[in-house]
Amino acid sequence: LQTEPLKVMISGAPASGKGTQCEMIVQKFGLVHISTGDLLRAEVSAGTEIGNKAKEYMSTGRLVPDEIVTSMVTTRLSQKDVKEKGWLLDGYPRSFDQAQSLEKLKIRPDIYVVLDVPDEILINRCVGRRLDPVTGKIYHIKNFPPETEEIKARLITRPDDTEEKVNSRLQIYKQNVEAILSTYMDILKKIDGNRPKEVIFKDIDSLLSQVQKEKEKTTKLG
Ligand code: AP5
Repeated sequence: LQTEPLKVMISGAPASGKGTQCEMIVQKFGLVHISTGDLLRAEVSAGTEIGNKAKEYMSTGRLVPDEIVTSMVTTRLSQKDVKEKGWLLDGYPRSFDQAQSLEKLKIRPDIYVVLDVPDEILINRCVGRRLDPVTGKIYHIKNFPPETEEIKARLITRPDDTEEKVNSRLQIYKQNVEAILSTYMDILKKIDGNRPKEVIFKDIDSLLSQVQKEKEKTTKLG
């Protein structure tokens, strides 16, 4: 009997380090990373219909309408690689309605990880963030500078990473967070995200390894 692969949700305020931790989780556990922010940014840069609709919401830091995001996520979740390798959902659900859409489809994670970071740290992380459009890697001008001059020269800044927009993204996060947490209370793990990224990953690693072991045990017991 084959053990069903891991299903993980990661959440937290803007710039709490979700994308950074996801890079490390994928490397270790081989899950398929599904980031709604990344998917939407790809649609915007490809100039698709979805991208054109999403663009104005994203650039002002507001949530993109549910009907656009939800179908994007559920389509991705139904694909073969996700079923085989397991999933790591980042940036979804972001509202009570989005959480309910997944519940209705009986899509539930094994564990819901929340990265907890104080507000004043978040602003600095956003304003200093840079992205490598070639590798997709996340940098920070002070915390994680690029390895070479070549990478440095091609780094880009997200249009929603200004102080003003981060503040409004943070407000929207706070308006929605409680309603989402209530859906996942029984599997929720809060982690202090205001520590070095390797230290945070150690905690996440042991949580996920634990869940994986439990799943293997249940499979054996049949
Ligand atoms: P999205 O891309 O999901 O943005 P977000 O939730 O605001 O999260 P971020 O990507 O800003 O931060 P992160 O937590 O991944 O942090 P990172 O690792 O990069 O969404 C963008 C927009 O898309 C939304 O505003 C909305 O419009 C739309 N959207 C997306 N999903 C949607 C949905 N479900 N419904 C509707 N609309 C949706 O780290 C941040 C910085 O900090 C980096 O520079 C990093 O190097 C640094 N850093 C990371 N960890 C540490 C550490 N431990 N110590 C010091 N620095 C660190």
